[in-house]
Amino acid sequence: MKKKITLIGAGQIGGTLAHLIAIKKLGDIVLFDVAEGIAKGKALDIAQSSPIDNFDVNLSGTNNYEDTKNSDAIIITAGVPRKPGMTRDDLLGINLKIIKQVSEGIKSTSPNAFVICITNPLDVIVMALQRYSKFPKNKVVGMAGILDSSRFKYFLSKELKVPIGDVETLVLGGHGDTMVPMLNHTKIRGEPIENFIKSGKITKDNIEKIVDRTRKGGAEIVKYLEKGSAYYAPAASGVQMLESYLKDLKKELPCAAFLENEYGAKDIYAGVPVIIGKNGVEKVVQINLSENEKNQFDKSINAVKELFDAAKKIDPELE
Ligand code: APR
Repeated sequence: MKKKITLIGAGQIGGTLAHLIAIKKLGDIVLFDVAEGIAKGKALDIAQSSPIDNFDVNLSGTNNYEDTKNSDAIIITAGVPRKPGMTRDDLLGINLKIIKQVSEGIKSTSPNAFVICITNPLDVIVMALQRYSKFPKNKVVGMAGILDSSRFKYFLSKELKVPIGDVETLVLGGHGDTMVPMLNHTKIRGEPIENFIKSGKITKDNIEKIVDRTRKGGAEIVKYLEKGSAYYAPAASGVQMLESYLKDLKKELPCAAFLENEYGAKDIYAGVPVIIGKNGVEKVVQINLSENEKNQFDKSINAVKELFDAAKKIDPELE
């Protein structure tokens, strides 16, 4: 039986997700949006490319949650993106309201779905989504770490002039300015980045610049686009998580997952390496952090907590 995948939000990321999912033939796709025409139009446009790219999946658009019923997986991008000069946190008030509506919509219609959230500010929105929907915590996960890690890997590969496949690293913590690119876990062809500094192939200063550019990776794109935020790389990241779930690949991926004492954090969603398989988030993988990495991680967790406190003030139901 083909899987049913619902995409809530048929904007820039939603449309790109639908196209990638169709090309990868991961399942039938329902595009849902309050703007019904956008959902229907994109579904039809992508469907009309199926004879060219040879995918046999059904695509439809709707603004009715009944049509999304019994989805195997749901990816949420409903919400407002940033405009130049805004931080992700500035989106809290408006996107919190939207995520409450979405939670209401999906909880009765697809209670068994695996739900991936992409809407920003990510860690707080995914936590609110879990509270509102009351879905099991292992079935609600946020997309951020794959994207941030991918940006970091890309910048490092360009700077060091090595193929992207040779760069191994990850970015943990919250999906904001406090995210933590893990330098002690950064390897090029299996060799610690430290050795490349020692041999003069890259300077500490250049690494700092790349870390900073990674942290501001989203804002750099918002500045160019002017009217919206990144969507190709965010969609590709979401699809990697979806595929690992649907095909039970059990990949280790950095994602925003619920923490119950892992990494010294409790009752909070934040970016950590997890295993995604047919049971959703099957495990939080514990890696050793250096003192500096741990300090930065704690700082990032505190930033997420503070923003969640702000969310609770907006909607006391989140208490
Ligand atoms: N229910 C369903 N869809 C909604 C709702 C809602 N209550 N409110 C808004 N939408 C839809 C909009 O109609 C729009 O089509 O969500 C879509 C969002 O699309 P874009 O504006 O193109 O935004 P996008 O670039 O896809 O980003 C979406 O992901 O990365 C984050 O920061 C980004 O929060 C933003 C989200």
